[in-house]
Amino acid sequence: MATLVRLVGLAASVAVSTALTIAEINGNKFLSPYNGQTVANVTGIVTAKGPDGIWIRSTQPDRDARTSESLYVFGAKFATANNITVGDAISVGGKVSEYRSSKAYVYLTELASPTLEEKLSSGNQVKALVIGKDTTDPPTQQFSSLDGGDVFAVPNNVSLISVANPVLQPKKYGMDFWESLSGELVTVRKPTAINKPNNFGDTWVIGDWKVTGRNGRDGLTQDGKDANPETIIIGSPLDGTSNPSTTKLGDSLEEITGIVTQAFGFYRILPTTALKVKKSQNPALPSATKLQSDGQCSGLTFGAYNVENLSPNSTHLPAIAAHIVDYLRSPDLVFLQEVQDDNGPINDAVVSANLTLSTLAAAIASIGGPQYAFTDVDPVDDKDGGAPGGNIRTAYFYKPSLIRLFKPNAGGSLDANAVLPGPSLKFNPGRIDPTNEAWTASRKPLVAQWEVLGKKGKSEGVFFTVNVHFGSKGGSSSIQGDVRPPVNGGVEDRQAQAELTANFIKSIFAQDKHARVITAGDFNEFISVAPLQTFVDISGLNDLDAVAGIKPSERYTYLFDMQAQQLDHMFVSDSLKKKAKYEHVHINTWVDKAAQISDHDPSVAKLDVCS
Ligand SMILES: *[C@@H]1O[C@H](CO)[C@@H](O)[C@H](O)[C@H]1NC(C)=O
Ligand SMILES: *[C@@H]1O[C@H](CO)[C@@H](O)[C@H](O)[C@H]1NC(C)=O
Ligand SMILES: *[C@@H]1O[C@H](CO)[C@@H](O)[C@H](O)[C@H]1NC(C)=O
Ligand SMILES: *[C@@H]1O[C@H](CO)[C@@H](O)[C@H](O)[C@H]1NC(C)=O
Ligand SMILES: *[C@@H]1O[C@H](CO)[C@@H](O)[C@H](O)[C@H]1NC(C)=O
Repeated sequence: MATLVRLVGLAASVAVSTALTIAEINGNKFLSPYNGQTVANVTGIVTAKGPDGIWIRSTQPDRDARTSESLYVFGAKFATANNITVGDAISVGGKVSEYRSSKAYVYLTELASPTLEEKLSSGNQVKALVIGKDTTDPPTQQFSSLDGGDVFAVPNNVSLISVANPVLQPKKYGMDFWESLSGELVTVRKPTAINKPNNFGDTWVIGDWKVTGRNGRDGLTQDGKDANPETIIIGSPLDGTSNPSTTKLGDSLEEITGIVTQAFGFYRILPTTALKVKKSQNPALPSATKLQSDGQCSGLTFGAYNVENLSPNSTHLPAIAAHIVDYLRSPDLVFLQEVQDDNGPINDAVVSANLTLSTLAAAIASIGGPQYAFTDVDPVDDKDGGAPGGNIRTAYFYKPSLIRLFKPNAGGSLDANAVLPGPSLKFNPGRIDPTNEAWTASRKPLVAQWEVLGKKGKSEGVFFTVNVHFGSKGGSSSIQGDVRPPVNGGVEDRQAQAELTANFIKSIFAQDKHARVITAGDFNEFISVAPLQTFVDISGLNDLDAVAGIKPSERYTYLFDMQAQQLDHMFVSDSLKKKAKYEHVHINTWVDKAAQISDHDPSVAKLDVCS
């Protein structure tokens, strides 16, 4: 390592004396072997102009797929000052530089402080490389050779691309593939949008190349270790136009041509002009769930919905009520997450959510839904994370004519629930180990025990529920960032939270190995990642997606970057597996950003809780 540093330091002080090709400047790794050096007579044809520079493509391409044949020439005035236009062949000098705007990102190789040595000719033909035709197909499984085969591996943050600087393997790793095309003018044929645009209009797409994990809406679902490296985000158009803000999951787009670059933590294509939607998916909205309550314990329905910072004054409250009635068909019991206190974001001592919950209950009743009862346990003010002052918590809605708390005895904010012989709960409902440091700035799971009322109000069986909202992924690094494997923000907290929750559930089974237990909510984690693997191992519960046989590509409740992914899960005890049904209702992932009511999709299950 010391030798390398010395060599680079030495090289930086001298100009390269012979003309280099663009491929030689780029080299076959992430970083240029000529980083920091002054070079002369780099020749190429101008393929595109941007607000701060131009891109040139080599007139002497090599046959090495690892070495990009194009280079960004950085200088806002360079093109105008020298009357340079697309199609010009030029010879240019400058300083080879590696640039990034944050140390969390991968570097972009560029030629800075350019000087025009010669304009060799004009009007040369410029041809884009068609991805998947003039290049190999982008790899579909892995991002980087530094991820050890698992982009979600724990521990993460064990190496840096900028330090390891591995030799590119564009057929194997997605980041290497896009890096090997850095600066190239490319065409994406038959593009499909796989997420809504971000606030800048940047939109993730796939082209007509081979992909894995395609779901019924034409998005790509993350599956295990496959987190969709075959995708690319389309950034700001080079002509100063803006991408549409209303693009939706699965929209087909007009063909895209643009420059591959690296910025803001992602490889991206800067299109020559704005994206255009050709066609959207039909129907625009999903159907309501097919799962309907039987009104008795042999077929009860269970909804789960992260209602995104719901307060009494939320403008989205009526729409949440309509989703519960129209799309979830008024489940018998609903696990809610992100319920704010009675004055929402106002940061004072208020912690009760009675008004929030009664306002939602009234909105549901007013549109013909059931008269739900509700229960929750207030957090200690400002101790459960989320939006400042909101005091978000989990809560239950239930139909009191059908279900009631079994021997109700609500715990306080700091009361640790326990399982008593029976089994029954010390606090019903009550929170799991609320003073444990694993829950610092996070929601404490709410455990409840219920009895189902049969004909004539007779009890027809008892079951337990655990409503969770684990710590967030805040602090994560980009999946295409410098840090490998990328940082999965809060994973240690979720690991500890999963262990506490699972051990509590285990203590129910210690009293009754046939106990009926349903755990649902926003776990902020994927089923194949350590915290949830541990959760399943310790608790003995079953992943309801697997039990109900939902196709892996349809297991999603959230869109993030290039993924349709599942943060919201339901787990059931062995006793509830028989006849279990489950659906994710894609009411929020399918619509455009303005029409989205929550950032999560709700889910519904139907379970036999009496056999
Ligand atoms: C660059 O090209 C010019 C003109 O063709 C030539 O005079 C000069 O020697 C070249 N420099 C290098 C470093 O090749
Ligand atoms: C600018 O370059 C074009 C060819 O690219 C040429 O036709 C034109 O005369 C040049 N204009 C000036 C002012 O040099
Ligand atoms: C990765 O670990 C290093 C060393 O502990 C730390 O400085 C850096 O902030 C971490 N990166 C991220 C993205 O968390
Ligand atoms: C909610 O809206 C009402 C009526 O506009 C207003 O009086 C009240 O202060 C608002 N409450 C909060 C917490 O914003
Ligand atoms: C909220 O409702 C519960 C149960 O009805 C009640 O015990 C509690 O006092 C209420 N809290 C407030 C602040 O009204």
